[in-house]
Amino acid sequence: MNIAVIGPGRIGGNIARRLARAGHQLTLSFARDEHALARLADEIGVRVDTPAAAVAAADVVVFAVPWSAIPEALQQAGALDGKIVIDTTNQFGSGEMPRSGQTAAAFNAGRMPGARYTKSFNTLTAAFQVQVAERPHEQRVVQWLCGDDDDAKRTVASLIEDAGYVPVDLSGTAGCEVMEAPRRAGAVYGEEWRLPEALDVVAAVREGRPIPETPQYSQ
Ligand SMILES: NC(=O)c1ccc[n+]([C@@H]2O[C@H](COP(=O)([O-])OP(=O)(O)OC[C@H]3O[C@@H](n4cnc5c(N)ncnc54)[C@H](OP(=O)(O)O)[C@@H]3O)[C@@H](O)[C@H]2O)c1
Repeated sequence: MNIAVIGPGRIGGNIARRLARAGHQLTLSFARDEHALARLADEIGVRVDTPAAAVAAADVVVFAVPWSAIPEALQQAGALDGKIVIDTTNQFGSGEMPRSGQTAAAFNAGRMPGARYTKSFNTLTAAFQVQVAERPHEQRVVQWLCGDDDDAKRTVASLIEDAGYVPVDLSGTAGCEVMEAPRRAGAVYGEEWRLPEALDVVAAVREGRPIPETPQYSQ
């Protein structure tokens, strides 16, 4: 697939590297340091372009910028009509925030009109995502996924697998609080989960029950 990564830093850079290695066509975009961006693109063997051009050519657009930079990234990206979006952001720092009771996913979906919005790759630190991406199948970690477009989520799930993780579809954008910051009891944010235990989380969320305790894995 043609994939634009808007903000290929710690999170987006790993996603770009993993998906390029899996055979996808990546374009990197949106940096204050254009030289560093070009160096990263050379190293991975992918293209650089403006946000508008990268998005126009893309099937899938990954937003991996700090929360405060989202409005600028969206403005430079231009129309997202029909594009599958993977939002990796968390609501830290400055900028307009979700209203009380609204998920960050629902808030961001609302400022990406026309996009086929999904949220993923946001619950684990960037260093951990790099560290675990080559694990054998049974030890692979879950990348939670939410969104309101089932076809878009199926596409993103297959990209998560290509990147070396296990996709688990948690919910729509309205019901995904447990995968959102901050790290806290009763949430999956900030914790390692693997598939068998993650399926119990999905069932709990669907039934409106508290999720099971965070598992401890010895290896
Ligand atoms: N780091 C983590 O462990 C982690 C884990 C899960 C989710 N997240 C979320 O993922 C998103 C990206 O985080 P990250 O840690 O990957 O950030 P990062 O390493 O700082 O990368 C940000 C990227 O955006 C670019 N950028 C362009 N304009 C920018 C601006 N005005 N201000 C800042 N950066 C700008 C940066 O390039 P230049 O520096 O050249 O501008 C860089 O490529 C955030 O929303 C974060 O909450 C982070």
